[in-house]
Amino acid sequence: MPRTLWWENNQLKMIDQRILPLTYDVLTYDDHVAVAQAITDMVVRGAPAIGAAGAFGMALAAQRSPARDRDSLLADLTSAKKTLDAARPTAVNLSWATSRIMDYVGGLVLPNVDDLRSAIVAEAQRIADEDVEINRRMGAFGAEIVPQGANILTHCNAGSLATVDYGTTLGVVRAASEQGKQVHVWVDETRPRLQGARLTAWELMHDEIPMTLIADNAAGMLMRLGKVQVVLYGADRVAANGDVANKIGSYKLAVLAKENGIPCYSVVPTPTIDLALAHGDLIPIEERGAEEVTMVGVERIAPEGVPVYNPAFDVTPHRYLTGIITEEGICYPPFEISLRKAVEAAEARRQRKN
Ligand code: MRU
Repeated sequence: MPRTLWWENNQLKMIDQRILPLTYDVLTYDDHVAVAQAITDMVVRGAPAIGAAGAFGMALAAQRSPARDRDSLLADLTSAKKTLDAARPTAVNLSWATSRIMDYVGGLVLPNVDDLRSAIVAEAQRIADEDVEINRRMGAFGAEIVPQGANILTHCNAGSLATVDYGTTLGVVRAASEQGKQVHVWVDETRPRLQGARLTAWELMHDEIPMTLIADNAAGMLMRLGKVQVVLYGADRVAANGDVANKIGSYKLAVLAKENGIPCYSVVPTPTIDLALAHGDLIPIEERGAEEVTMVGVERIAPEGVPVYNPAFDVTPHRYLTGIITEEGICYPPFEISLRKAVEAAEARRQRKN
């Protein structure tokens, strides 16, 4: 499979995830405003993929900016960052990536604006490449906690499509499978947008990893019957205390897992950890349009005018999580300490590389 998004001929290419798996199409983006709209519309989705799209969005803004001096370019980038950051509020990877571009360009002393433009493209490309490397490392750590023959229950899509490549949660599944562990995945369909049924099922079938699609409501019964050995899901933002915001319905899975004595892990690259927020209730939760609930695909299923509440994410309080799998190792309680250590280790690794 190709990457979820990539830079080609000074444009951004992204797989259109709204129409998968029935149609495979790649869209081309020329400016950051269109990229922001694509993030809002979920052409690209999944926290790390959104982050990479934001970084390339900044690269497009730099390229299209008419600025002839450094200060004007920085002003245009500041405005582009605002537009991009507003595209989706919960995934902190977006503002993490746009801030990283701003910090990087702020630290460069290149007098020529075209050199600055090229440097920004290169930094965006580094962010995308690092994401793949992070997922591979996370996969190796995560595979350790997957028992031979495990039935893994997962929610939404935290796969290759939610990242630049390989995936966070599905990266762990892939790594376990590459190590020869015979795993099977229960795939929650994940209403309302059905990322599980459409995207996770597609990815796992492509990789020939055994899986079964289930309605979200079947998860509790499977856990009670002993048919789930581990629950794994991703995150859009993790607070300093280990509370995790992920796709709506994740919280319910973690509570059910605890009730049934099943380990539950969130698989999280360090750019998803927001140490500035003390706990999960401070994480902004995106609310999306009513039509995602009143319709299935193009078909209306609810009466016209019905009142709808459609939060896209929920928060799992950290006490329900066995651990948080990062590219710097598996964090265990107390998460305040282990998460900070992981973020610092990742930062140190990045410094060493530069
Ligand atoms: O609304 P989405 O599809 O962007 O939600 C995605 C998720 O909830 C993922 O689990 C999360 O972003 C982690 S992706 C590696």
